[in-house]
Amino acid sequence: ANALRLGVAGLGTVGASVIRLLGEHGDALARKNGRAVEVTAVSARDRTRDRGIDLSGLTFFTDPIELAQSDEIDVFVELIGGDNGPAESSVRAALSAGKHVVTANKALLAKHGVDLAELAEDNGVCLNYEAAIAGGIPIVKTLRESLSGNAVTRIYGIMNGTCNYILTRMEKEGISFEDCLADAQRLGYAEADPTFDIEGNDTAHKLAVLTSLAFGTKISADDIYLEGITSITTADIQAADELGYRIKLLGVAQKTDTGIEQRVHPTMVPKQSAIAQVDGVLNAVAVDGDFVGGLVLVGPGAGGDATASSVVSDIADLARGDVTPVLGMPAKDLADYTRARMRLH
Ligand code: NDP
Ligand code: HSE
Repeated sequence: ANALRLGVAGLGTVGASVIRLLGEHGDALARKNGRAVEVTAVSARDRTRDRGIDLSGLTFFTDPIELAQSDEIDVFVELIGGDNGPAESSVRAALSAGKHVVTANKALLAKHGVDLAELAEDNGVCLNYEAAIAGGIPIVKTLRESLSGNAVTRIYGIMNGTCNYILTRMEKEGISFEDCLADAQRLGYAEADPTFDIEGNDTAHKLAVLTSLAFGTKISADDIYLEGITSITTADIQAADELGYRIKLLGVAQKTDTGIEQRVHPTMVPKQSAIAQVDGVLNAVAVDGDFVGGLVLVGPGAGGDATASSVVSDIADLARGDVTPVLGMPAKDLADYTRARMRLH
């Protein structure tokens, strides 16, 4: 078969790692999947910046919509970010033009996921987003495929690498919140606007998508009870420690008698629990299912290389011809979300 041709929009932390990974492992991927993948075109704002990757021979667009509609690509890989603007318009353009889309953009999915899923289904193409939730942890495929035989009762965990990195270093090294955040930004973990990390919005975006996958409901990020970590002090962390707890920012979605309860807030977790051991940029996602019981996936939640690993897994699925409904079932069949009464624990 001809090589699957990729257009990569966004050459920042994640985009540059994706290009490097494909350069290093392209031959092995072709052998595994029975079809080669080839980056043919890219897009970013700045044509001249040295990104530490070889872009020679690739067509460079400054407008991602032109890339999305280009005849040179079969798959549009959106690594720009943001829930509107160029990310949204280029993803819509790509799906409408019959191109598969791979994205790491949870903000976009939280706001427009159902709509985009319908657009993908109407055009007979895939919209894959393993990288959007918990970086390198394969939780999307785990829920959508491996656990599809279960009725999920609860999904919860640490879903933001920046916040967990900050809380861990505040506790273990006594470093200030501001310095930890600056380091997380330097390491490429934080969002372009880090308010989304520290105020909990990024965790809420991820939780909203996981809720839809786990419970077959429409995505409803606006209904999430939301509290970030900006008010957590070193004194709070020490007080929790003395009581036998650690403070973690958790996202929780669980089935109740009246619907699905979704919440994001700092939580005191017992030190001996599995989630309390998850430090630094690591994330942990726990799923309770009626047949499987409980399981926890732990791994790097942010960073270019770990996220590229998930992006490329989605590209590999396309090379093999795997087709899975975007949100686990046809978008038109998703149930309306019924808001559950908030219960504080
Ligand atoms: P960066 O800010 O590092 O990179 C963004 C890229 O998009 C840059 O190459 C930039 O171009 C390009 N871009 C921005 N605005 C425009 C525009 N108006 N037109 C054309 N190109 C534009 O972001 P990340 O790589 O960190 O994140 C990308 C996506 O991946 C986001 O959705 C993010 O939420 C998600 N993500 C990030 C993770 C991480 O650890 N960083 C982990 C998981 C998901 P230029 O370089 O020329 O400025
Ligand atoms: N800013 C996000 C985080 C990137 O820190 O978890 C991964 O989605």
